[in-house]
Amino acid sequence: MNVNTLALVQMCVFCIQATSLGAEPLPDLAFHSSQSLDGEWRIIIDPYETGFYDYRYQQRDRSRNPNRSETFYLDAKPTNPSDRVEYDFDRSPTLRVPGDWNTQMPELYYYEGSVWYRKSFEAKRTDGERAFLRFGAANYRADVYLNGSKLGMHVGGFTPFSFEVTGQLKSGTNSLVVRVDNKRHKSGVPTLNTDWWNYGGLTRSVKLVHTSAQFISEHRLHLESDDSNTLVGWVKVEGAAEGDTAEVVIAELRVHASAETDRSGLARFRIETPGVERWSPEQPRLYDVVFRYGNDSISEPIGFRTVRTRGKEILLNGEPVFLRGISIHEELALDGGGRVNSPAKAKQLLEWAKQLHCNFVRLAHYPHNESMTRLADKMGLMVWSEVPVYWTIDWANDQTYQLAEQQVVEMIRRDASRASVIIWSLANETPTSDARNRFLSRLARKTRALDPTRLVSAAMEKHGKRGEPNVNVVQDPLADIVDVVAFNEYVGWYDGLPDKCDRVSWEIPYDKPVVVSEFGGGAKYGFHGDKTQRWTEEFQADIYRQTLPMLDKIDGFVGCTPWALVDFRSPRRVLPDIQAGFNRKGLISDSGQKKEAFYVLRDYYQMRAADGDE
Ligand code: GCU
Repeated sequence: MNVNTLALVQMCVFCIQATSLGAEPLPDLAFHSSQSLDGEWRIIIDPYETGFYDYRYQQRDRSRNPNRSETFYLDAKPTNPSDRVEYDFDRSPTLRVPGDWNTQMPELYYYEGSVWYRKSFEAKRTDGERAFLRFGAANYRADVYLNGSKLGMHVGGFTPFSFEVTGQLKSGTNSLVVRVDNKRHKSGVPTLNTDWWNYGGLTRSVKLVHTSAQFISEHRLHLESDDSNTLVGWVKVEGAAEGDTAEVVIAELRVHASAETDRSGLARFRIETPGVERWSPEQPRLYDVVFRYGNDSISEPIGFRTVRTRGKEILLNGEPVFLRGISIHEELALDGGGRVNSPAKAKQLLEWAKQLHCNFVRLAHYPHNESMTRLADKMGLMVWSEVPVYWTIDWANDQTYQLAEQQVVEMIRRDASRASVIIWSLANETPTSDARNRFLSRLARKTRALDPTRLVSAAMEKHGKRGEPNVNVVQDPLADIVDVVAFNEYVGWYDGLPDKCDRVSWEIPYDKPVVVSEFGGGAKYGFHGDKTQRWTEEFQADIYRQTLPMLDKIDGFVGCTPWALVDFRSPRRVLPDIQAGFNRKGLISDSGQKKEAFYVLRDYYQMRAADGDE
């Protein structure tokens, strides 16, 4: 086959973007008994997709015509000295899971392509039980095989997915093979261009989950309204018969409620809970809630609070709140690290936010590790959670829409019980167009249908008013759809110099709360000079000193999430000695040192907190 045909095949095969096949969210698998498959996995780096495609037959996927010698997911071994098997996981290098591959192997630092992961593990099949493989996330596309048979495929790098393996699991040694491909696609979510590192790999935990034949797969429980002590919600039981009983137990509140399942296994609850304490940043009260069905039970710490808007206010538990926030990428480059892959690293980031006197964090631009939102529950930090519908998405492409919607569904179903999560964000800095407006309003409808208890927003853009250089306008059809009008602004960095802030006024013609979802500027830690010298800590601090009073003048300003907490990797940032592969808009350097602007923002938030955020 000549090179041109091969290239042609490669080109058309690779640009086809499917949505997930066979992958199921099943959120409560996270709480059932499980066996961790984290640790060292054997890998094969496969830039030419040798293990996936058989170019001789132009078949798209080897699973249609597997041959032992090159089909990696068969995890084959030569059966005799003349047998030809051209790979061997047992003699191949390893990568740690969970973790990105980029910071584990220098040769993979910039790598975008496929890597095959193999884990051999012992398991025991138990009659009458079901078994699932649950992945916390894999960036970007994962094709999953167990004991040589394909379970399915998942696309999207930041949300959990699972496959049932009751039929495929063996008692004894099992071979789990996952092809992870982090190539970017125009039709992808995110699309080709972003300002963060495209970390590839099994970036979050993998586990084998065992359940009974009927098991609790999902639940919702929330306060009905600001001033009621009524919890409403449901429990979904896989395999339950109509008329079976499910229970909710909250010992501290002397609650022991039961309800009958309907034909779909759903049991609805309405529970009076006198004296239930509300969750808030000042008092992040969580209750151990047990959900039970027969001998199957799961428990989860859940906080109860309400959030809504009233005109230009955001009300938490019926009281106006100011969001003292910061934007965070799910990265901790400390000690050469990459993607946050442990609760300890998540804690480090949130503790830094706490040191800033934050009560709010924007987890940008994709759903972060679930330990992040769980810790936010415990630490009393409200959360903005976002899907990577970022910049120039392929708006008119319905497959792209399906991918975005799938990520919204997986994000909401994973974190629906997180009291900390108050805002679902649908997009970041997306230029208005009819296709874009249709796409995002459809996504907003889906989001509200899935979760009517939280606010919907998106990071929009501001524009200069024609003929009035010092007037900035936020005018976007999306602002009519969302609950909170949020926008990114870089007056003083991309737009003029810091002193421009003093001259700028804002036109934001919506009777809705306003959140400034990004502002800031770059600085190299330890680089000092006059405040007019770009990249110095003084210049960055001056942007903060000038911006905060400007924002305080905005009618309806209820909070902000400056960009960003920590310097983070980005292939777009190439200025030698200053950026060197990092976006330097962090208030903390990639080696954990606080810049001058960190203290400017801390003092402002301290003052706001002291004034009771009024
Ligand atoms: C944008 C974008 C960020 C980016 C930032 C920057 O607003 O949302 O992802 O990193 O600007 O330019 O630093």
